[in-house]
Amino acid sequence: MQTKIEAFGKLFEENLYEYFKEYLPQYKLIFESMEYSVKNGGKRVRPLLTLLFCDACGGEVNSALPFAQAVEFIHTYSLIHDDLPCMDNDDYRRGKPSNHKVYGEAFALLAGDGLLTAAFERISQGCLDGLYDSGTAISGVSALSSLAGSRGMIGGQVVDLLNENNPDADFETLQLMDLLKTGALIEAACVLGCVAAAADEEKIEAARVFAQNIGLAFQIKDDILDVTSSLEKLGKLTGSDSQNGKSTYVSLMGVEKCQALVEKLTEDALSSLEVFENNEALKIYADYLAHREN
Ligand code: IPE
Ligand code: IPE
Ligand code: MG
Ligand code: MG
Ligand code: MG
Repeated sequence: MQTKIEAFGKLFEENLYEYFKEYLPQYKLIFESMEYSVKNGGKRVRPLLTLLFCDACGGEVNSALPFAQAVEFIHTYSLIHDDLPCMDNDDYRRGKPSNHKVYGEAFALLAGDGLLTAAFERISQGCLDGLYDSGTAISGVSALSSLAGSRGMIGGQVVDLLNENNPDADFETLQLMDLLKTGALIEAACVLGCVAAAADEEKIEAARVFAQNIGLAFQIKDDILDVTSSLEKLGKLTGSDSQNGKSTYVSLMGVEKCQALVEKLTEDALSSLEVFENNEALKIYADYLAHREN
């Protein structure tokens, strides 16, 4: 099963860079800047979930590749913008200087814009290339645009920014923030895998429940690592949350209780995988996410 996860990771990586190869010299810089942030270092959690869900639904993983790329492009754009001085002002990402430290703020902004748009270009191109039909493409675009947009990931980033230096932020607010800023894109990743496999509503609903639990757990783990890890292990500077006055589950209830909550949410996530015949690799991957060190 570990080999399946590794094989999917390799398949994803091999097909990722095609997009960055064609451009006119006059605007080469934007492609350099986009590729700089996409390349190396990312754990590829979301695209792996897309491929694993497609496989768990009995689909052909090659047909899920454009969806997997789209979700990783959107994730990478969100990281570039999240690191900008007007947001979290972070200088390191994926083990190297953040995009704006290398290319400047204007090109970092444009690299994010370029990746966001490229996501939807990839999904439509997959349909034009005959990998899936137009109904599948529209279902994918609908799920991704709504979950990554202002009612999803962007909404979560807004709740995050509005609660900086708010000592009264309560659990309900933090839960909403984490479910949206991180859970929503993870939900999109899981749903897209099911959509690529033309799965039924029961499976899509189960994937959503899995993703909401694993997504909340993923952000709580991210907040734990911001306190307990290091730049060498994590590839980004630690202590960023307290420096920015962010309220997190960790600042409210401490590291130990948070790790217990991550375990509980992961258990809940696992129980929604029963409707998938082929769920072994997903179970292993969910367990890895709960115990990850970067
Ligand atoms: C970091 O995501 C930002 C969050 C939403 C918590 P990842 O931890 O998946 O970052 P990469 O893709 O591995 O760099
Ligand atoms: C990031 O949350 C969420 C999104 C990018 C949408 P964080 O701000 O905690 O992510 P890191 O810690 O910078 O990776
Ligand atoms: Mg942030
Ligand atoms: Mg950040
Ligand atoms: Mg963080």
